[in-house]
Amino acid sequence: MSTQSTARKHVVVFRKIPDDLLERIREWHDVTIADPRRAEELPRFREALHDADGLIGSSFKLGAQELDRAPRLQVISSISVGVDNYDLACLKRRGITLCHTPGVLTETTADTVFALIIAASRRLVELSNHVRDGGWTRNIGEDLFGWDVHGKTLGVLGFGRIGQAVARRAALGFDMPVVFHDPFDVQVPASLAQHAVRASFDEVLRRADIVALTLPLSDETRGLMDAQAFSAMKPGAIFVNGSRGAIVREDALLAALDSGHLRAAGLDVFAVEPLPQDSPLRTHPKVTPFPHIGSATHETRRAMAELATQNLLRVLDGEAAVAAYDLSKE
Ligand code: DGY
Repeated sequence: MSTQSTARKHVVVFRKIPDDLLERIREWHDVTIADPRRAEELPRFREALHDADGLIGSSFKLGAQELDRAPRLQVISSISVGVDNYDLACLKRRGITLCHTPGVLTETTADTVFALIIAASRRLVELSNHVRDGGWTRNIGEDLFGWDVHGKTLGVLGFGRIGQAVARRAALGFDMPVVFHDPFDVQVPASLAQHAVRASFDEVLRRADIVALTLPLSDETRGLMDAQAFSAMKPGAIFVNGSRGAIVREDALLAALDSGHLRAAGLDVFAVEPLPQDSPLRTHPKVTPFPHIGSATHETRRAMAELATQNLLRVLDGEAAVAAYDLSKE
């Protein structure tokens, strides 16, 4: 940790972080805590932006208009790997450093995606509810059977850290051939060289029995999984999303499930979160919904908050962040 030689600055903490990390920030800087997702705290959050030098938090959209309220802002330290909540062009224009938390959540998020794959294929939540609801009065019949996961072809859309970690679980643990697509020229790690094949977006959809979406949300990926993409998937395939809901046209996904073209879907993320009560995805019999729990374990959320705190303190002290998001391509 640095010597923190610079003057005290003003930090706005906009999502709860562990007390000891809050104290670490308070040791060096003045802190305002305000969660803008709570209507009653939004005015205080906005007020605090006026002389904020640093922000730390997550799960709140900070567009250009909101950022204009913070003329002194030097750094946003996001407690997330995804950066789709921030106006990247505006941050670049204003020279504001954006930090995030890649790496520390990779394995946990891959666990979640794999849990979705198994849950959707084996109908785990539905069958567990069958027991809880008192329906298990005789041995289950074919109508409640699921489908094997092992040996199926997994399609991975987005072969970054998380996509590769999902592929590793599939190939090495479940004997699944992997076919992947990534818009960038990513290296296939040696452990997957024998198991994972690069293909076009369309080919992944055509070949996979199970498609896992692990792409980040950007202007290029918004709405990517539309009616055409779902119809290109194999009949009876399963779709799983562990990245961002807005990459999927939910109406198109519902149509593909209702027509019987897709067998099932496992979704950790939705276009609107929390999922509205009246969303058909909430209760659809072919959908296994999770409440955006990709990284939500005690260990990983702690590691994310620690990394975010470190990022924040380093930038405010004039040092390079451990994990700054590269804004140069925006
Ligand atoms: C992330 O880190 O981006 C998770 O999805 C939490 O928002």
